[in-house]
This record gives sequence, structure tokens and C-alpha cells, in this order.
Amino acid sequence: TDMKGYVEFQNVTFRYEGAEKPVLENISFKVQPGETTAIIGSTGSGKTTLIKLIARFYDVEEGAVLIDGINVKEMTQQLLRNKIGYVPQKASLFSGSITDNLRYGKEDATEEQIIDALKTAQAIDFVNEKDDGIHAKIEQAGANLSGGQKQRLSIARALIRKPEIYLFDDSFSALDYKTDAKLRAALKNVTDNATIILVAQRVSTVINADQIIVLNEGRVAGIGTHRELLSDNKIYQEIVSS
Ligand code: GTP
Ligand code: MG
Repeated sequence: TDMKGYVEFQNVTFRYEGAEKPVLENISFKVQPGETTAIIGSTGSGKTTLIKLIARFYDVEEGAVLIDGINVKEMTQQLLRNKIGYVPQKASLFSGSITDNLRYGKEDATEEQIIDALKTAQAIDFVNEKDDGIHAKIEQAGANLSGGQKQRLSIARALIRKPEIYLFDDSFSALDYKTDAKLRAALKNVTDNATIILVAQRVSTVINADQIIVLNEGRVAGIGTHRELLSDNKIYQEIVSS
């Protein structure tokens, strides 16, 4: 079979330019194709940086980031963009219609595909409430939308492209518990073979992940399932009880 979407970090160390200390140190883990990996850890622990290294926003100092066994340094930006659906921590929408925003990265998406993606992202209801529906204007990069609405449009934008790997950076944090659960259940249905790497704040968001990576001050403090980490990882126990 040609399962695609295998992600591996091999002893990755990364330092931002000009920074004294590395923000990620000696990070190693594997993400199997089609599985969900969750990353959890306190603010500033390096979660966003780790996600960005997969999409090669920066090159690593030591070690390697591999996708399907190939070092991302050897991949073109075009190839990476096609493989990866990256939903940034801060949704970047532009002034234009909802359809314009969702077609960004896939100009030929049909209205049907747009509506399907909005349904999965639990965004169709608030979009339909707008006078022009999917043709409604997004003002000043999203000033007329709530944080959770922007996140859901940003997720819909990624879904339309049907990538092999989804990177969700804290994309569920502004949603209420029920919407979060509904969205992730819907995602599971449409992303059957896709690999999902998600950053989360809430334990309820990570609980069903195939593996959870606990980051602490730029290092891996533990990798396991919810059940495993709950029984033997002090930092995870603290996150759960906070
Ligand atoms: P939260 O999103 O707040 O939960 O944090 P995070 O876990 O996503 O941390 P992130 O990866 O954003 O940052 C890790 C560390 O890198 C922090 O100390 C940041 O201040 C630092 N950092 C993040 N982005 C940059 C950057 O562009 N330049 C520099 N020099 N440092 C950065
Ligand atoms: Mg972050």
C-alpha cells in the first residue's frame, strides 16, 4: 500500500535567529499515516514552533524533519503546500468574500465543495445567517467575525484542499465544548486517511488521540496515550488537573 502522511522528527534542535537558547531541543517522535497526534504543553513550550517546522517555515539546526521518509529540506515549497493543510494559531483571513477566502490555495473549488467544508467545520450555520451567505464579505481581515468563527473558516479552508497531513495549531480553543466535539467527530469522517497533528489546550480535545506529546520548555516530557500519560507522567497529570 502507499499510505502517505508519515511524519518523523529525528533529534530536532531549533533556535530562532538571534536567540540565545534553542526553543526546541532534541525532539524525536513518529506519527503514523492516518493517525492523530496531539501536542500539549504550557504557553511558550514550543508547540507552534514544532508545527511550523513540519511546514518548513524554518530549517532545523540539528536533526531532521521527515515526511514519508524524505527530509523536508529536500522538498519544494509547492510540494509541501500540496501535502500539508496548515491551520495557524491565529487565523489569517483577508478582506473579501467567504468564498474568496476559502478558495485561497484552491482557486477551482466549487460552491458545493465550499459548502461541504463549511458543514464539516461547523461553520455553515453562522455563514447562512449572513445576508449573502457564502458570498458575504469578511471585513478587515475578520473584524466582523468572532475568534471561533475565524478558526472554523480557517479549518474549512484547509479541508477544501484535502491534504495528506493536517496541522491544527490550537484551532479548537475558541470553540465551546460541544462545538469542539462535533467538529472533531465530523473531521474524523472526512479525513479518514489523513494524518492529523493538533495542538490543544483542553484535555477533552486530546483524549482520543492515538498519541499525545507533552512538551515542556522545548523538550519532550512524555509520549503516550491519555491513559498511559495519566498514570505515569507528572506534567500531564498537572495539565489534566489544572
Ligand atoms: P502558546 O501558543 O502560547 O501556547 O505557546 P507555544 O507552545 O506555541 O510556543 P511557541 O512555539 O510559540 O514559542 C516558543 C518559544 O519561542 C517562546 O519562548 C517564544 O517567545 C519563542 N518564539 C516564538 N516565535 C518566535 C520568533 O519568531 N522569534 C523568536 N526569537 N522567538 C520566538
Ligand atoms: Mg502556540
